[in-house]
Amino acid sequence: MDIVVSEDVETEFLQDIACILADRDYQKLSNYVQHKNTTRLMHSLNVAYVSWKLARKIGCDARTAARIGMLHDFCLYDFREKAEEAQVFHHPKVAARMSQERFQITDKEKQAILSHMFPLGPIPTSKEAWIISFADKMCAVTERFHINIALARKNRIQVNAA
Ligand SMILES: [Fe+2]
Ligand SMILES: [Fe+2]
Repeated sequence: MDIVVSEDVETEFLQDIACILADRDYQKLSNYVQHKNTTRLMHSLNVAYVSWKLARKIGCDARTAARIGMLHDFCLYDFREKAEEAQVFHHPKVAARMSQERFQITDKEKQAILSHMFPLGPIPTSKEAWIISFADKMCAVTERFHINIALARKNRIQVNAA
C-alpha cells in the first residue's frame, strides 16, 4: 500500500500514529466502505486528525486522542454483517479487542474506544474519549454529505492500494 501525505500535515501527528498506520492488518481497513462515501481507513485517519487537533487546542493528551481516533473502528468486517447484538453496540467491543491484541493499548484507550458511540453505549470517562466521540460524529456527518474536511481535504492523505 502506498500512502502519500502532503507537507502541510504535521510531523508530530504522523509520529503519533506511525506504528498503527504502518501495520499491514490495520491497512486492511481501506477495503471497507464507511458512511457510503469513504473507506474505514480514511474515516479513521480523519477522526484521529480532528481529535489530535482538538486535544492540542484544549490541552489534552493529543497522542492518546490520535491513537484512539485511529483505532475506534478497527474491525475487519463489513458493518452490515449480522452479530448477536446491533452493530452500533457490537463494533466498539470488537475494535477494543483487536486494538488490545495488536497494539497493546492502555486501559484509558480501551475505555475510549468502547464509549465512542455514546449515547449508544457507555458514557466516555476521559476528555480524550469525549473528543473522539465528538470527532467521530462530526466526520460521519461530513462524509455522508461528501464534504471533505481535515485530511480528506486537498488530498492531504492519499491511500493507493498496492
Ligand atoms: Fe464506530
Ligand atoms: Fe467511526
